Amino acid sequence: MALDIDSRTWLQNHFKENVCFDEPMARHTSLRIGGPADALVTPATIDDLQTLVQWASQRRLSVLVVGDGTNLLVKDAGIDGIVIRLNRCLNQISKTVDSGGRTFVRAMAGVRLHKLCTFALAAQLKGMNFALGIPGTVGGAIMMNAGTFYGSMAGVLEEISILASDGNIQSIPKENLDFSYRQLTLKNNAIRSFAGNPIILEGLFDLQPAQEKQLQQEAEEILKKRRESQPTHLPSAGCFFKNPASDQSAGELIDRTGLKGEKIGGALVSPRHANFIINTGDASASDVLTLMETVQAAVLKRFNIKLEAEVRIVGR
Ligand code: EPU
Repeated sequence: MALDIDSRTWLQNHFKENVCFDEPMARHTSLRIGGPADALVTPATIDDLQTLVQWASQRRLSVLVVGDGTNLLVKDAGIDGIVIRLNRCLNQISKTVDSGGRTFVRAMAGVRLHKLCTFALAAQLKGMNFALGIPGTVGGAIMMNAGTFYGSMAGVLEEISILASDGNIQSIPKENLDFSYRQLTLKNNAIRSFAGNPIILEGLFDLQPAQEKQLQQEAEEILKKRRESQPTHLPSAGCFFKNPASDQSAGELIDRTGLKGEKIGGALVSPRHANFIINTGDASASDVLTLMETVQAAVLKRFNIKLEAEVRIVGR
């Protein structure tokens, strides 16, 4: 349901310069694609975020939290309701040591994942290098159980805290987090008063002290490998499809169908890594979706495997 005039007025009064109406999502996604969101709000404080979430829940307005928009395809007709960005209210990162001498890094959801990795490196803490070069924010990375060949969020998270749509904040230890490939689900009894989708506020990361030189060396190798094999400098949403199995790469399957370089409108299957769809400049979401279906059909026909999008597709 689109936002009515009363809702727009309430948002304008409460969020002033922190709300934009009919905001093109192309400005907020790494693919540089996406129609307008009815309202895009960037709350300045956690209190403001709580107020917004409670109000939207009472009004039954749809809410979509986005990080850096790096794993997101927004359709051309845009998004109903409210899009929330967390980079202003949830941008803190700190190191703590518990009474038993274990070291943790606490990173809020709006912090860039790259910043968490470089913070850990500078603090000589081991465990986050796997995520070097993965774009996006900590919140998005937790939601997606972001990962690479070297590891995933599931391996380092000790605890998260969430905001339920009734405004309650709650900590959830790792025992109650159900991680699977590119997905996090909260075990049912983990949320006291669940109503709608909870918002991840922060993560507590269990990292170990390590030699700086060794960590730096490992980091450079990981980043070099990524730069060599992926079109990291072009607008994309990272790997578009999930790997169908741990020993099967979607990129390799697409490559073997001969679709590298396939172009529909402004959307292109990257000639460098076949699991990347690139916006060559003027791609629409519909170009990307048509190219996605072309790739899926070719892989299904040749290998009898149905590729599933890893990128989250949203919008009206
Ligand atoms: N390959 C090809 N052709 C291609 C691409 C890959 O033959 O066009 C082959 C490679 O030569 C290699 C194999 O496929 O033998 C695996 O390729 P790669 O090492 O690039 O890994 P991937 O499985 O395609 C995954 C993640 C990436 C992550 C890399 C590196 C998924 C869907 N992708 O890619 O994550 O960066 O491993 O660890 O899990 C992302 O999630 O957005 C992402 C890019």
